[in-house]
Amino acid sequence: MTTTTVVAKGRTLRFPEGFVWGAATAAYQIEGAARQDGRGVSIWDTFSRTPGRVADGHTGDVACDHYNRHRDDVRLMRDLGLRAYRFSVAWPRVLPEGAGRVNEAGLAFYDRLVDDLLEAGIAPYATLYHWDLPQALEDAGGWTSRETAYRFAEYAEVVRDRLGDRVKTWLTVNEPWVAAVLGYGIGVHAPGRASAADAFRATHHMLLAHGLAARLLREAGAAEIAITLNLAPVLTPEGLHDPQAPVSAEDAEAVNRIDCLLNRQFLDPALRGEYPREVLEIVERIAGLGHVRDGDLKLIHQPVDLLGINYYTPCVVRARPGAPGSDSYPGSDGIEFSGATGPTTATGWPIVPTALTRLLTRLSRDYPEVGLLVTENGAAFEDVVAGGRVADADRIAFIEGHLRAAYAAIEEGADLRGYLVWSLLDNFEWAEGYHKRFGIVHVDFATQRRLPKDSALWYRDVIARNGLVKDRARRPTLEVVAARAGVSRSTVSRVINGEGTVSAEFREIVMSAVRELGYVPNSAARSLVTRRTDRVALVVSDSPSGARADDPWFSTVVRAAGRELEAAGKQVVLRLAGSAESRRGIERDAAAGHVDGVVLVPMFDADPLPAALAGAGVPVASIGRPAATASTPYVDIDHAGGAAAAVAHLLERRRSRIGAIRGPLDMPSARDRLTGYLDALRAAGLRPNVALGALTPASGAVAARELLDDDPHLDAIFVADDLMAMGALAALHEAGRRVPGDVAVVGFGDIEAAAYTVPALTTVRGRMADLAATAVRLLLAHLDGEPVSSRILPADLVVRASS
Ligand code: FCB
Repeated sequence: MTTTTVVAKGRTLRFPEGFVWGAATAAYQIEGAARQDGRGVSIWDTFSRTPGRVADGHTGDVACDHYNRHRDDVRLMRDLGLRAYRFSVAWPRVLPEGAGRVNEAGLAFYDRLVDDLLEAGIAPYATLYHWDLPQALEDAGGWTSRETAYRFAEYAEVVRDRLGDRVKTWLTVNEPWVAAVLGYGIGVHAPGRASAADAFRATHHMLLAHGLAARLLREAGAAEIAITLNLAPVLTPEGLHDPQAPVSAEDAEAVNRIDCLLNRQFLDPALRGEYPREVLEIVERIAGLGHVRDGDLKLIHQPVDLLGINYYTPCVVRARPGAPGSDSYPGSDGIEFSGATGPTTATGWPIVPTALTRLLTRLSRDYPEVGLLVTENGAAFEDVVAGGRVADADRIAFIEGHLRAAYAAIEEGADLRGYLVWSLLDNFEWAEGYHKRFGIVHVDFATQRRLPKDSALWYRDVIARNGLVKDRARRPTLEVVAARAGVSRSTVSRVINGEGTVSAEFREIVMSAVRELGYVPNSAARSLVTRRTDRVALVVSDSPSGARADDPWFSTVVRAAGRELEAAGKQVVLRLAGSAESRRGIERDAAAGHVDGVVLVPMFDADPLPAALAGAGVPVASIGRPAATASTPYVDIDHAGGAAAAVAHLLERRRSRIGAIRGPLDMPSARDRLTGYLDALRAAGLRPNVALGALTPASGAVAARELLDDDPHLDAIFVADDLMAMGALAALHEAGRRVPGDVAVVGFGDIEAAAYTVPALTTVRGRMADLAATAVRLLLAHLDGEPVSSRILPADLVVRASS
């Protein structure tokens, strides 16, 4: 084996000694066990169980089942080399009614967790409040009531008394802005109230809660006390990428106002003992100041050791006289909010690492007495598990970019002590449910299997070397990795792309070379040069009724397309086009160049996506002919020809009373199959007899009975789908008809089960995997600049016993 050392020691971008590397989670997002061991109800239980509040009705009932699997999860953290783990304590687990009775079993859980962490050499960082307020307290007014702050202090005391001998770092309240504004101001988070005045009251009471808890933690000698805030630089669109860009007086006022509401409304009371004047004016106008009592600010302003910073994306605003402002920022009239241009994460948040440098240097300048800790930073992307691996190059690029930004801030003098990635595990992402995956470890929610993504393995190496590989331009190339591993380039590439064709032994050799060299297959960096992302979106249409989703056709097509794309070295981004919003998101991402092209699996005419994508100039190929209005190139099979062949075959077998079971007519394929049947029957001078099915066996059975009712002498049925044909066979059998003696049956499709029905089903076979692979090749040709045109593949009659 060659030993090319690319990364000499001096080339590492090394973080300060003792820099804390870790990961963060929150109780409701991962614990599950919602009804276990006497846990009380939280506002998130109530909220998530209220229809329409959380995407697809997801709840935290099971989540990552961390409550029952924390041992394994701690082992995982140890394997990744984490130095710190930030978790939150669920208030309702400790005090089921929010106050009074302590639930010993709940406390014991955190006791065990802390012990396990310490044993694994991981420092426990405990957050006391990450949004799961006991429902009983919400019923008594929640955070709009001052009393809640005092209940919080009592709860903090209980937890402190139990864990304080081992937990050195405490975080009081997580993101009071989000909890107050999203929970009480606009109602998209629990408890789902929508009143600007309530949001301001809740804000103040959460700050008070922080102060009370910080004080009693200090009294007990806690080593490090922190508050965790969601902070973001507020910038103008011009200033986003150019800090020197001139800012008009009007824009400066807009920036300052939002900075006050988002950042200083929390920073100044906690770290300086005062609200910004601008904030007080707005609060007074909207909520009055009755809830801010004398002495409160002194209470809130407790000495803290660390400021916890959750940073995801900047806030971009400009002055626009007459603009109504945003409900999330009461008092923001005359201000326009805009998204940053450029790449975004799967949550649509613009990726701007440089804003983190600006944020950290500013905080150290304006609040020099407090140390800084990034308590959350990370991103959701559309992860794909392939070949036992999640190659989340996007997430690696995201984290790496933000670590570089953090490093730059340290070099400029920011007192940054550590970085905790959000999140250890894919988890319940609040109103988004389980759809947004932020983990560096993938969680299969059906099996609870954990799979460290590439980002986790990469992060492990960052921790081990306490830094990043310095020179991006000198990054090891594929050749270097191949030389180090002693294998060919294509083997490396196959391993990187997660192909299962490489033996486990070689995979390990290649992967250890990849790790040693710090090789990152970075799609974002590639795209800078070539404008290619090497990513292709595979868009699966989801009809409102969910029809077809259970059909094996669906998985055959998706798998075949995915394989073909992967074989071509593309990263597959699987997207589900369900709501209008998700369709717009897909269209936006594609138009912005986040993928090179799109392979569509459209099914219904109503789907506007093909036309929209074509209109936006995105390279598209469609598996199956899309609605008549779209000009998208497609590959399809000859549905009409196949149906006609089925009828011809039945005629040959001397059948003359041939009925048909058709599919829904808003599906082009179903329409074509019906046309083929009708034309062939008409040509033979026979009378059609058609019943409608819904592409399921049950609907096929119902339709077959209908046909028999209409024509007791029926002697054949052409069924436009194999699954329906299976139902029809069963119905004929029940009705005492022999197949094919009395009635012959011909299906249509490409499912293996058709060969095993009794009698085995004669069917028109369109090869679905070929169809999908051909469509993918059409797109690839398109991307290579070749002229493309739509194609029709033949459908062949497979004669078996049922005819
Ligand atoms: C933060 C929350 C955290 C997680 C991330 C994505 O606002 O603190 O729980 O949901 O966003």
